[in-house]
Amino acid sequence: MGKAAAVQTVKNGGNVLLVSRSADKLQQAKEQIETACGGNIGRVKTRALDATDEAAVQAFANELSSEDWEFDALIVSAAGRAPHGPMTELPTADTRSMMETKFWTAYNAAKYINPKLREGGSITFVSGVLGRRPGINCCPLAVTNGALEGLTRSLALELGPRLRVNCLSPGFCDTERFDRMDTDRKAAMLANTADSLPLRRVGESSDMGEAIHYLATAKFVTGVVLDVDGGHSIRQYANSNSDPMRKQSD
Ligand SMILES: NC(=O)c1ccc[n+]([C@@H]2O[C@H](COP(=O)([O-])OP(=O)(O)OC[C@H]3O[C@@H](n4cnc5c(N)ncnc54)[C@H](OP(=O)(O)O)[C@@H]3O)[C@@H](O)[C@H]2O)c1
Repeated sequence: MGKAAAVQTVKNGGNVLLVSRSADKLQQAKEQIETACGGNIGRVKTRALDATDEAAVQAFANELSSEDWEFDALIVSAAGRAPHGPMTELPTADTRSMMETKFWTAYNAAKYINPKLREGGSITFVSGVLGRRPGINCCPLAVTNGALEGLTRSLALELGPRLRVNCLSPGFCDTERFDRMDTDRKAAMLANTADSLPLRRVGESSDMGEAIHYLATAKFVTGVVLDVDGGHSIRQYANSNSDPMRKQSD
């Protein structure tokens, strides 16, 4: 999703500084973004950084002052592996790790990078549908998403009117996050989810890139959580056979 947001930014005339932990992945991402935007246009820079490391984020923010560019927007879409399972069985350390890579990365970035953003700029976080419409055995993602949405509203108050702060809440989206899954299992998961949604498809990265770009640039929008989920948050029973209302009318 971060890459898709970068593509939208570059297509709309902006420059991007893309950050994640892996220098190799960043190099590939830079090439993919430039290809998607028509070739080597020199508007994408990269920097390897573990955003869970508060001191490293602070040092990175200080470097931004000497960057050639001024920054209008901070977009944080980082997240590590999401643990799934009953709370009583999941190691608490796994949930803490989810909070580290998804919540504290966003918190650190917002805390140290917000002063570097231009007046009238914005911060966009990414939560997820499992926050307000949780699934069974998804408590780590639910609590992390809830924390990010709370951070969104409180920072929108604290940093306004200088900056706007918003949050994208994606539904299921076919990104590289699922590339490590067994191919058949992944295909079944995508098909089942698509079948349960009002729009009958899962999200594509570009859906999220467009929505992030909207939040980052919409001048009268702050403190909102935007659901971009194909209707997941209003979906009914995934299988009509288990829906008592539909069974009655069938
Ligand atoms: N895909 C979905 O279905 C879905 C649905 C709802 C919500 N979301 C949320 O949407 C966001 C983006 O998801 P995605 O599907 O684009 O995930 P993704 O493909 O796994 O991308 C997440 C990126 O975060 C980076 N990252 C992880 N830990 C980091 C750290 N400590 N410091 C810096 N970078 C870090 C990773 O790069 P490195 O490994 O190089 O660090 C990775 O490229 C996540 O917050 C996810 O929870 C996704």
